[in-house]
Amino acid sequence: MSKPSWVRGGPRIVKPIPGPRAKKLLERDERVMSPSYTRAEPIVADEGQGCYVKDVDGNVLLDLSSGMFVLNYGYSHPRLVRAVERQVAKLTHFAGTDFYYEVQVELAERLVKITPGKSSKHVYFGNSGAEAVEAAFKCVRWHTRRPRMIAFTGGFHGRTFGALSLTSNLKYTKFFAPLVPGVSFMPFPDPYRPPLGGDPSECAHKCIEYIRDSLGTSIPPKEVAAIITEPIQGTAGYIIPPPEFYPMLKELCEEHDWIFIADEIQTGLGRTGKMFAMEHWGVVPDIVCVAKALAGGMAPIGAMIGNAEVMDWEPGAHASTFGGNLTACAAALEGLKILEEQKLVKRAAKLGDLALKRLQELKEESKLVGDVRGKGLLLAVEMVKDKNTKEPAVKERNMVVQEALNRGLIVFRGGKSVIRIAPPLIIRQREFELGLDIFEEALREVERKC
Ligand SMILES: Cc1ncc(COP(=O)(O)O)c(C=O)c1O
Repeated sequence: MSKPSWVRGGPRIVKPIPGPRAKKLLERDERVMSPSYTRAEPIVADEGQGCYVKDVDGNVLLDLSSGMFVLNYGYSHPRLVRAVERQVAKLTHFAGTDFYYEVQVELAERLVKITPGKSSKHVYFGNSGAEAVEAAFKCVRWHTRRPRMIAFTGGFHGRTFGALSLTSNLKYTKFFAPLVPGVSFMPFPDPYRPPLGGDPSECAHKCIEYIRDSLGTSIPPKEVAAIITEPIQGTAGYIIPPPEFYPMLKELCEEHDWIFIADEIQTGLGRTGKMFAMEHWGVVPDIVCVAKALAGGMAPIGAMIGNAEVMDWEPGAHASTFGGNLTACAAALEGLKILEEQKLVKRAAKLGDLALKRLQELKEESKLVGDVRGKGLLLAVEMVKDKNTKEPAVKERNMVVQEALNRGLIVFRGGKSVIRIAPPLIIRQREFELGLDIFEEALREVERKC
């Protein structure tokens, strides 16, 4: 499959976004689509290739958001396309909940091998991130017969009722109560904005102390089935906890026989420069949830990989007709081969280090950048009105995203005033540097205006 000619020549805007064709589609969309989606940018895609997407008006955009952290192998990777074509030509559907097929078992074997920990494990396949979390939630209830969960403030785990009940953000939970009861939210150690005040170096200890203090007052420890955490909080704006936090949390879990669930839906599969983000802290979770990048955007899939001892539920307890469907499994297997053969995890770490260094320099020079942070190709720029008060610069953040888009670059919002940068793992260094040049230009333009 040869590269389409529009990819050559880099990002370019031929019609201000949204252009005339995009506008027409936005009008049709508004008439028939659910208003509940959170479309922040009016981009109407037509074609994609590598790290680029072309919109319906011919604008070519460099996507440093990987289509919402899904396209680790870029748009329409020829090997994934071929893997899907081969699978579809051979067999498209055969309910994996009721029958068997090899590609599903092969993917499960692969996932068991690459997830942290040497214990024997099982895999449950669903169709999305929320379904992977939903499965983990149900599974820990089944296994422990305990009714409570611990989750973290700022955490996002999906929008189905179970996953939503573990999510702590009114933007998503408002008006949906009553949610699944028994979930307690604990403060998440954000070193830039310590949730319990005080020195950032103490924030991990303070958060663990807070959980310990809650035991016996508001949370009976023997009623808790599990804790769930995003290793790095994604939707909240890539909050990276201090190094000592997860080892202490794991210790707490072991003390009370709580299951440790890592929601690696945004952070997993190489994104952070390790296969799974939890490896940065040397902590082995009992359950890992993945989705997003697993099939590289070729088909919906989510998976929960759990310790075999924990996954002791019986037939019928949980399943889904399309979970782990053939197309998604074939794409995921090919994607994991690419990840390994092209050493993309190592590359993510290397490119991420270079980018972080550059963003740190940018922070020193910029009056609007309060913090930059990242691991691998998961990077965040937090914008503030004043570096001392750290008041979130929401309007200015939105302006930077817009200015970037005006120059043909997609970056993504997060938290209150964060910009998330998470390019496909296959991005070439030169392409990434070009993207960062454009980002810098957009930031400087906003600084000039403010
Ligand atoms: C950490 C995390 N968990 C769960 C989800 C939900 O995934 P999905 O949208 O596929 O249901 C997301 C989606 O953004 C996520 O980032």
